[in-house]
Amino acid sequence: MAAQTLELSSQSLLANDEDNTLCSSEITTLPQSELLSAALGPPNGHLTGEVRIERAWAYWNGLGRPKLIVAPMVDNSELPFRLLCRKYGAQAAYTPMLHSRIFSETEKYRSQEFTTYRPLFVQFCANDPDTLLEAAQRVEAYCDYVDINFGCPQRIARRGNYGAFLMDNLPLVRSLVEKLANSLNVPVSCKIRIFPDLQDTINYAKMLEEAGCALLAVHGRTRDEKDGKKFRANWNVIKAVREAVRIPVLANGNIRHIEDAWQCMEETGVEGVLSAEPLLENPALFAGYRTAEWGLDDEGTCKDGELDQAELLVEYLKLCEKHPVPWRMIRSHVHKLLGDWFRVHPNVREDLNKQSVLTFEFLYGIVDRLRELGARVPLYVKDDNRYRSCASET
Ligand SMILES: Cc1cc2nc3c(=O)[nH]c(=O)nc-3n(C[C@H](O)[C@H](O)[C@H](O)COP(=O)(O)O)c2cc1C
Repeated sequence: MAAQTLELSSQSLLANDEDNTLCSSEITTLPQSELLSAALGPPNGHLTGEVRIERAWAYWNGLGRPKLIVAPMVDNSELPFRLLCRKYGAQAAYTPMLHSRIFSETEKYRSQEFTTYRPLFVQFCANDPDTLLEAAQRVEAYCDYVDINFGCPQRIARRGNYGAFLMDNLPLVRSLVEKLANSLNVPVSCKIRIFPDLQDTINYAKMLEEAGCALLAVHGRTRDEKDGKKFRANWNVIKAVREAVRIPVLANGNIRHIEDAWQCMEETGVEGVLSAEPLLENPALFAGYRTAEWGLDDEGTCKDGELDQAELLVEYLKLCEKHPVPWRMIRSHVHKLLGDWFRVHPNVREDLNKQSVLTFEFLYGIVDRLRELGARVPLYVKDDNRYRSCASET
């Protein structure tokens, strides 16, 4: 039997310090017309494997087969950030991981942490099928997939017995997936890490498919390979999983610029890719923009894209004014987006760190100050401009 108590990994979300307050009290809901609704049938119930596979594909096709997807990120893939990425080429997104028990029990957590803009994967961590179902039923009308986090390798997940630590308890994994697949009106997706052994990974993926998973996102690193900069994601394993299962598969890991995305899809045959950390520095990644790390290094084929991270930050802040989020999320994005700029002017970062209470005025002022100091770190684009057409005007 699963441990019934999940670690309060999101406890900080419920605390009342300044960084956890919403940045504005004005909440705007997105018009229904902006929500893409896919045709849905009745719940999966106990369908045969063959019918389930057909439905998984019909559903995915109905959603328009999004290829460029914002990965789930605690405190970082919140609505304003997802909307910014959507403007710059992302075609779908995951919510941050939500804690299934806190979500089903706490109204404040639900109202602060859950927002929708579709196509959307809502991700939960869980170790109890009934609790997970209760949480999932609260969101199923507002999303396209309910996703289960089987990939989190952090200590907090070990203590709480969820995420990648459920790889040690596959019967529980199966029961979580079956519970949702048999009861929900939306399909269930899973995000997994790979095992050190290829056959174990393939068996795992096949078990998930059998249990009713309708879409599988594979992060090509093992549970112990926590540092994404140190360990390259293994696309060969992702390809082997894609060949072994019949449901749509997405790849995650090493998508640092748009050419990585296309190359990964070509090499592995997956339906689409997820990017996480690289998007935090560069939310315009899917529209073909590159940070200097990948823009300057490419045999002189890149040029100044006439867009920079400070402009993206201003766009993000404006979205936060419309769609309020806790300040701690905004603070995190300011650091990620302006990291390169702060390296040139560390005193501006220090002033930000000293500011215990943030305001939009202060943050717009930070951007103005950096510009007055003459700091500009451009994003680059390939000279041929091939991928920039992805950027949609919203
Ligand atoms: C700030 C941050 C928060 C994350 N939170 C989650 C999460 O809530 N759920 C999840 O499945 N993975 C989470 N991840 C992992 C990413 O979704 C992704 O699997 C991992 O970073 C590898 O992708 P990348 O190489 O594009 O960064 C997080 C990663 C980062 C950097």
